Amino acid sequence: MRDTGMSLDGKRVVVIGGTSGIGFAVAELASTQGATVVVASSAQANVTAAVGRLAGATGDTIDLRREGSVAAFFDRIGPFDHLAITAGDWNGAAFFAPTRDLDLALTRELLEVRFWGVLAAVKYAAPHIAPTGSITLTSGMLVHRPRMHAPMPTVVGGAIEHMARGIAMDLMPIRVNAVCPGLVLTEPVKQMPEAMLQSMVDPLPIPRTASPAEAAKAYVYLMLNAYVTGQILPLDGGGMLI
Ligand SMILES: NC(=O)c1ccc[n+]([C@@H]2O[C@H](COP(=O)([O-])OP(=O)(O)OC[C@H]3O[C@@H](n4cnc5c(N)ncnc54)[C@H](OP(=O)(O)O)[C@@H]3O)[C@@H](O)[C@H]2O)c1
Repeated sequence: MRDTGMSLDGKRVVVIGGTSGIGFAVAELASTQGATVVVASSAQANVTAAVGRLAGATGDTIDLRREGSVAAFFDRIGPFDHLAITAGDWNGAAFFAPTRDLDLALTRELLEVRFWGVLAAVKYAAPHIAPTGSITLTSGMLVHRPRMHAPMPTVVGGAIEHMARGIAMDLMPIRVNAVCPGLVLTEPVKQMPEAMLQSMVDPLPIPRTASPAEAAKAYVYLMLNAYVTGQILPLDGGGMLI
């Protein structure tokens, strides 16, 4: 029967990075929409804590740095409908360094989770995802609004957006999209100096950060809409307009 994609009732949703921030909000929203949710990340303590805060959810560990861990995770999980990947480590030294100062070893390491890990997750998830299901990746507004002295978020996020487009053609009819968030008020963002945050949101048509719950709606929309694939959905307070 054709899946009209209008409900997550009875669907199984896996969120890698679902133990905190945007991913946890995605898990929470999917769960309230009727999905059975699996949250996953690399630290067992974070998985246990997240499952404790999310009634009805289960959790498991996956380390996107290790292909074996990714393969074993999806073998344990078995069949499911929708995958969201919000995992990312915050390797500041490489992530926010000027080109001339890039430590290339650290920069390669940065790609372990944010590029290679995501690609591994997509590869090992694909055989387990229903043909009516979807994969939603995560990029970031710096892809479209690069900043001086911080090329890597643009480089890595851009690769993720093109991964979504390329793999959407390859894995069809499984749909593959990406959410492109601006500033979302999660723990790492709360650590930023208040003045810096303010200077980033002030010029926006919607001059504030997004809540994780607002970000989650973008992911759940992409799970629900069965006619959307290969798309990048900005969640940016109008950041693309300025
Ligand atoms: N917040 C923003 O303003 C913003 C803006 C644009 C883009 N983004 C992107 O959105 C994503 C989520 O951001 P967030 O603010 O929600 O971050 P967060 O709260 O730090 O969440 C990151 C998640 O990734 C998991 N993770 C880290 N390393 C992992 C690994 N090796 N394997 C599996 N999971 C791993 C973490 O759990 P463990 O530590 O337990 O592994 C955690 O659950 C990030 O990729 C970020 O770059 C965020």
